Amino acid sequence: MKALQDKIVNEGKVISEGVLKVDSFLNHQIDPQLMKKIGQEFAELYKNEGITKILTIESSGIAPAVMAGLLLEVPVVFARKSKSVTLIDNLYTTEVYSFTKKVTSTLTVSKDYLTEDDVVLVIDDFLANGEAAKGLIHLIEQAGATISGIGIVIEKGFQQGGQVLRDKGYRVDSLAIVSSLENKEIQFS
Ligand code: G4P
Ligand code: NA
Ligand code: NA
Repeated sequence: MKALQDKIVNEGKVISEGVLKVDSFLNHQIDPQLMKKIGQEFAELYKNEGITKILTIESSGIAPAVMAGLLLEVPVVFARKSKSVTLIDNLYTTEVYSFTKKVTSTLTVSKDYLTEDDVVLVIDDFLANGEAAKGLIHLIEQAGATISGIGIVIEKGFQQGGQVLRDKGYRVDSLAIVSSLENKEIQFS
């Protein structure tokens, strides 16, 4: 997606060890016009897939997910992240380890908002090692729902997540794939 690549080139900052900082439009401040275009891309890709629900994770997945949900006319559910959960009666839960942040968190979704009748599009801001996506898939499996595909705003192609998910047979659509951040230069594939 050209507008997204341009934005990444113009405003993205490469910080230590392969991390791309995009706080000016995605992870802190949000660019609604760009999010709208991102939503349009996801909606175009999935408009014929019978999607009934979008699932993302708080917090940075919510903006692109809501824009896609607006156009696909389906509800958007965000998995909540917490350090620990005690009352799990009405929740699907799974543990997710973040290599970037070196923390394990529990992802939860209420059983009220994900059911076996759902056809789910997963959306997230970044795909790195794929741990978050795997967590979301696990929640969808617990619900007995169908996974239609995984829509990612920025995939880091030099990490393994995208390949692992595609090898497992999941449809993964990344709007920008960063192939390298070496020498603080942003390359796309
Ligand atoms: P993984 O899910 O693909 O395995 O990735 P990882 O655990 O490494 O990512 C943990 C968090 O770091 C996620 O955000 C993810 O979006 C973010 N992340 C990973 N690589 C990058 C990167 O290069 N740049 C930026 N800006 N973020 C990256 P999160 O903890 O869910 O936080 P939030 O942003 O959704 O609040
Ligand atoms: Na993030
Ligand atoms: Na995220």
